[in-house]
Amino acid sequence: MRGSLPINGAKNSALKLVAAALLAEGRTTITNVPDIADMHAMADVARHLGVNVDASVPGTFVLDVPGELHTATPPELVQRLRASIVVLGPLVGRQRRARLAMPGGCNLGSRNIDLHLAGLARMGAEVTYGPDYVEATCERLSGANIELPFASVGATENLLLAAVLAQGRTRISNAAREPEIGDLVAFLQSMGARIQGTGTSELVIDGVDQLSPTHHAVLGDRIEAGTFVVAAALTGGDVTLTGVDPEHLRLALEKLRDAGASVSGDATTGLRVRAGDELRALDVVTLPYPGFPTDLQPQFLVLLSQARGTSMVTENVFDGRFSILGELSALGAEIDLEGHHAVVRGPRPLSGRTVTASDLRAGAALVLAGLVAEGETRVAEPHHIDRGYADFAGRLRALGGDVERADVPVDLEDVAAAP
Ligand code: UD1
Repeated sequence: MRGSLPINGAKNSALKLVAAALLAEGRTTITNVPDIADMHAMADVARHLGVNVDASVPGTFVLDVPGELHTATPPELVQRLRASIVVLGPLVGRQRRARLAMPGGCNLGSRNIDLHLAGLARMGAEVTYGPDYVEATCERLSGANIELPFASVGATENLLLAAVLAQGRTRISNAAREPEIGDLVAFLQSMGARIQGTGTSELVIDGVDQLSPTHHAVLGDRIEAGTFVVAAALTGGDVTLTGVDPEHLRLALEKLRDAGASVSGDATTGLRVRAGDELRALDVVTLPYPGFPTDLQPQFLVLLSQARGTSMVTENVFDGRFSILGELSALGAEIDLEGHHAVVRGPRPLSGRTVTASDLRAGAALVLAGLVAEGETRVAEPHHIDRGYADFAGRLRALGGDVERADVPVDLEDVAAAP
């Protein structure tokens, strides 16, 4: 794969910025919004809450937020998008009540929201829930010291969004430090929020009475970029990506170097990845940022299936993240699962067949596998990929990949035959 590509705005930031916009009455404009299914679902969640969302200009959301928001979301919307749980904090903070259907989204094993709810309760919310809903009410939230037992991205964001309008000071310790949280903090600060500790694991928030609408461009998507650089290294390619800060991919890029690729450039000149002569085995351990991102783990599994030697991939964040293994084995990869470690022996030739995407990143990784598999690979259930990648097939094609989005029914007998 060869050529250059501008990276889109980050899904995992843009979704939360829509939730943050709920905090202020008036017109907020978000630019560099990726054209992905999850953003359309999030726009529908905001509309349901009473926001007028104008998405008619590509890449831009103009949100007209009313003085009073509706406080309930229906199951059909929330189940489309797990990240919609992030409207809980802003709704409770501003409207003092929320009732949400329980979130859907990727099938990644047990995806709990207990830390979100415990934190809100610490801030004074009364939280009740059942198997398919969660409800929180309060007078005004009050600041609290909250120590997260795990640096959860979603819990950090939800509590941050609740704390900006709370009475007094909230301290979130062991906060997640993902770059998308930095983007959310910058967005909230531009609305008038008082937040210290950006980029660190302790966020200190002094609540204010009111926030103002704002204008903000979403930061570049490090996971989309990471997916394309893996494609480059996997296919013996030379790819340059703009619109992303390579610093946000530091560990993944170090691993690519260890695997034999050459990596150069910066946020201004663009990130260039050139494949070396041969891919080498290595170990990968997923951890919260700045650790290796779990969202790039399946793509690296594919890469390592083509690397010489034995690699070990350890998943520490999501227990369902290895759902891709059966499909990769069906294509010819040699991978053994031992607890939360996958042992990959390579290189093994892959040969095309029909496989099924079980979640967003697994789906993207299977497409990458198809790029190097002999013959034709079909990835069924591509709607998972549409959730987080804008025109994935078209963008891979722009770099020379032979990939098509086929809206033809897949041969289910072929799928069923996969081991
Ligand atoms: C976000 C990202 C996702 C990424 C993940 C980790 C979005 C929309 N999604 O997901 O792409 O893979 O961060 O970088 O931004 N947990 C609990 N209780 C909680 C919250 C989380 O047990 O209250 C557990 C989860 O089950 C999971 C782990 O913590 O095993 C990580 O979850 P979290 O960091 O919250 O990820 P998400 O915000 O769901």
